[in-house]
Amino acid sequence: MESAEMEEFINAVRERSDIYDVVSRYVTLTLKNGRFWACCPFHEEKTPSFTVSPDKGIFYCFGCHEGGNVFKFISKMEHITYFEAVKLQAERLGIEIPSRKKTSAEIQIEQEKDSLLKITSMARNFYHNCLTKTKEGEHCRKYLAARGITEKIIEDFQLGFAPDSWDSLTKRITARGYSKKQLISAGLAVEKKNGDGVYDRLRGRLIIPISDISGKPVAFGGRILVADENQPKYLNTPETEIFSKGKLLFALNKSSRAIISANAAIVVEGYMDAISLIGAGIENVVASLGTAFTEEQAKLLSRYARKIIFCYDSDEAGQRATIRALPIMKNTGAEVFVLIIPDGKDPDEFIRNHGKAAFLELLKNVMPVIDYQFQYKLRHINYSTFEGKMQVLNEMFPLCREINNPVTQEDYLKKFSSVLVLDEILIFKEWNKFLSRSENKNKSAPQKKFPIQKSSLILQSGRSIIQKLWYEPEFIDYVSALAPKENFTKIHREIINYIEKCYAAGQMPDDLTAAKELSAEANLELVRIAGMIEPQDSQIQAFQDSVKIMQRVNLEKLYRKIYQEAKDFFKSGDLKNYAEKMQAAMILQKEIDKL
Ligand code: UTP
Ligand code: MN
Repeated sequence: MESAEMEEFINAVRERSDIYDVVSRYVTLTLKNGRFWACCPFHEEKTPSFTVSPDKGIFYCFGCHEGGNVFKFISKMEHITYFEAVKLQAERLGIEIPSRKKTSAEIQIEQEKDSLLKITSMARNFYHNCLTKTKEGEHCRKYLAARGITEKIIEDFQLGFAPDSWDSLTKRITARGYSKKQLISAGLAVEKKNGDGVYDRLRGRLIIPISDISGKPVAFGGRILVADENQPKYLNTPETEIFSKGKLLFALNKSSRAIISANAAIVVEGYMDAISLIGAGIENVVASLGTAFTEEQAKLLSRYARKIIFCYDSDEAGQRATIRALPIMKNTGAEVFVLIIPDGKDPDEFIRNHGKAAFLELLKNVMPVIDYQFQYKLRHINYSTFEGKMQVLNEMFPLCREINNPVTQEDYLKKFSSVLVLDEILIFKEWNKFLSRSENKNKSAPQKKFPIQKSSLILQSGRSIIQKLWYEPEFIDYVSALAPKENFTKIHREIINYIEKCYAAGQMPDDLTAAKELSAEANLELVRIAGMIEPQDSQIQAFQDSVKIMQRVNLEKLYRKIYQEAKDFFKSGDLKNYAEKMQAAMILQKEIDKL
């Protein structure tokens, strides 16, 4: 490219770029005094000193003094050069990039790629015609109709059908002057074992064209119409000069606009999930092409949206794939969430059964990535033992460390404490130890360590106990035998008294009566307790542990009392009583140790 031409190109891209749009893809801007403000993405800060002036097309941070135009911003955000940022922005805006003079070798490679693209385009049209216009395609049309795939969706995605014949595509394409070798290079034909010619790779299958970002078909997925255990469900064309699957996301060419405007992308596992969701009007969807989600895909996607929502199948394989995909997003700066399909195996099935509105409802309640990881670990690690609890913790700490906000971090540590029924102090101590370990290892910047506060053990145990008693008040005797009420907090005492009264009267405690009889604080606490999420089976464990804790609290109090009395006897010279009290104290101590 000549330098004048280059300058013209850069100017054209700059003129069509709105710095507000570009920046707000990465940070949330708020208007104040004629400028837009945000917390600076280039340095750590709590109060916004980063500004954007759309009229001047520039950004500036009063904190770190970083500033410049839209390309400078993109290059800093994406860790790419200034010119790469120009090119990226041009791509996003759909402005064609002028190219420099090519060498003859480059021209040859490009021509070959061009031929492959022509072949794949022809193939797409051929398959599409077979589906929509031929008798052979009829059972595939029926198959799609039965799956709720409308004619409009068939057109939008240019779905097709590969006839059940060895050479119908090969014949068609070679008749147009392309060689069998090129057909092989395009991934559409396979060489016969005896070396005598080629045959069509995809036969008797529903065809799903896979397009690059500009919408050109570069590969195909072929789905079997009748399940057959001797054949894979999907047969895909392989990687070629024009297709590398780890770099492409299925349907991104269709959904990129919707993704940008929602500033959110939903990632699904299957072609059919993407087709079905987009067909139903959820447009900001891509599929990860059946392979593990790659770093390139992560980077690609995070250029379009800040919020990435994984919505894989809800079976064990889908969960495992989700857990594997999540860390791939780590360095992209995206906010990552997981959408769990509550009913049905995959998003396709869900939206077919429940419709778009129900799916939008699910989208309102997506789960932050760390919560998903926590729940996943709770499902896969037996955390009823102390070792199990520590394992969960140690696996969660590195994930917790990724959180930039110390307040949120602390909230999660507290959540671990309440779900695992582990003392907060213990968790904070372990956390601090973990931080020191990883700082030493990685020489990384120190993170905030938590001061160990006074234990909220009594509060937490009280909550677990009340949670259980609320539904099973018959446990009240068990609790009072082991853990006398006076050890609970004042508010918990009030609630337990109420439950006890209900139980004595042969009634179940209920929110309505509680609202009338209990103080506002007690009612608020009941709401908090009701909001404690714990899986069913761990509730019992939490309850038992909590009773033990309260039992210990009680015994320790008793111990301190007896020990004090012993000391008093000693002072007054009453050695006989002193010895007796000390004996009692030691028995207590043993009991405490047993707990
Ligand atoms: P799924 O089995 O979830 O596919 O596999 P799907 O798209 O939901 O298909 P339906 O609903 O059963 O028709 C997820 C993805 O994994 C890849 C495909 O990309 C598929 O969309 N896959 C799956 C294969 O490549 N080969 C296979 O044999 C199976
Ligand atoms: Mn499916």
